Amino acid sequence: DWTADQFVDTTIASLKARLGNDQVVMALSGGVDSTVAAILVHKAIGKNLHCIFVDNGLLRKNEFQQVLDSYQHMGLNIKGVDAKDKFYAALKDLTEPEAKRKAIGRTFIEVFDEEAHLISDVKWLGQGTIYPDVIESVSVNGPSQTIKSHHNVGGLPEKMKLKIVEPLNTLFKDEVRVVGKTLGIDPTILGRHPFPGPGLGIRILGDVTADKVRILQEVDAIFIGGLRDSGLYDKVWQAGAMLLPVQSVGVMGDERTYERVVSLRAVTSTDGMTADWAHLPYEFLANVSSDIINKVKGVNRVVYDISSKPPATIEWE
Ligand code: XMP
Repeated sequence: DWTADQFVDTTIASLKARLGNDQVVMALSGGVDSTVAAILVHKAIGKNLHCIFVDNGLLRKNEFQQVLDSYQHMGLNIKGVDAKDKFYAALKDLTEPEAKRKAIGRTFIEVFDEEAHLISDVKWLGQGTIYPDVIESVSVNGPSQTIKSHHNVGGLPEKMKLKIVEPLNTLFKDEVRVVGKTLGIDPTILGRHPFPGPGLGIRILGDVTADKVRILQEVDAIFIGGLRDSGLYDKVWQAGAMLLPVQSVGVMGDERTYERVVSLRAVTSTDGMTADWAHLPYEFLANVSSDIINKVKGVNRVVYDISSKPPATIEWE
């Protein structure tokens, strides 16, 4: 029978044997999988694990600094890289979802490759791949049609000529969380909602600009903060806001406004493959909506997405 304690012990022992004195580089995202994978490798080889956390300018409000602080707190050898402007430049004028994903993925590889070359004699690339990712990349390469190219960093190991180490590639998400708990990782990190690699870049419909990112970060922070304050955060699989590429007429005092529309999205799910829109209380939605419209300049209308997956997907792009 599988137990997390046993998994941790045998994995650390085999990582030690496999990696020896080699240098390992790893990109962290702030998510559960890459964090748990990094802590395991760190326990095996300590400072020979070099972690890189890239600010792609598409993260949630204040997330870069908060996540960087918590990695440092965990004792990881971590470098934060501000690459916001590179990502915005790569995204300039792109509107098509897959084109945006590709631009974000390509830019990430460039930034990461550059950083990895600063570390002398790296032999391994660590990744937080979990079992469902292994399965999914098989089907992505197979005959079935790709709906969204989730594997944003495919091609990274080939380009860098590194060997791959993926300590979680036999585990499911719930097992990763149990392993993370055994390792003493902060429960708020382990309980985090999934967040797409391309981040707010695929939640801003159409072209992405720094201004739009700022608006969406404010909206998202009010929504997610509200879910936490109301004890609803852990009851949904994932939540976030989408900035729509339309303007709507409104009225403020006796002035006509013509401003942006945001859509809030919250879903329940067990694996993200299918999902139901979350039946959040009207009272909660009412408060979040007026908070957003009162506090976020440039937004005059909030809608709630009541579509399930399938046929809708969780993200709008
Ligand atoms: P969809 O929108 O396909 O999303 O229902 C299912 C889950 O995958 C996440 N998602 C992504 N994750 N890169 C990622 O790393 C992507 O390009 C991407 N697109 C969607 C989504 O947030 C949800 O958890």
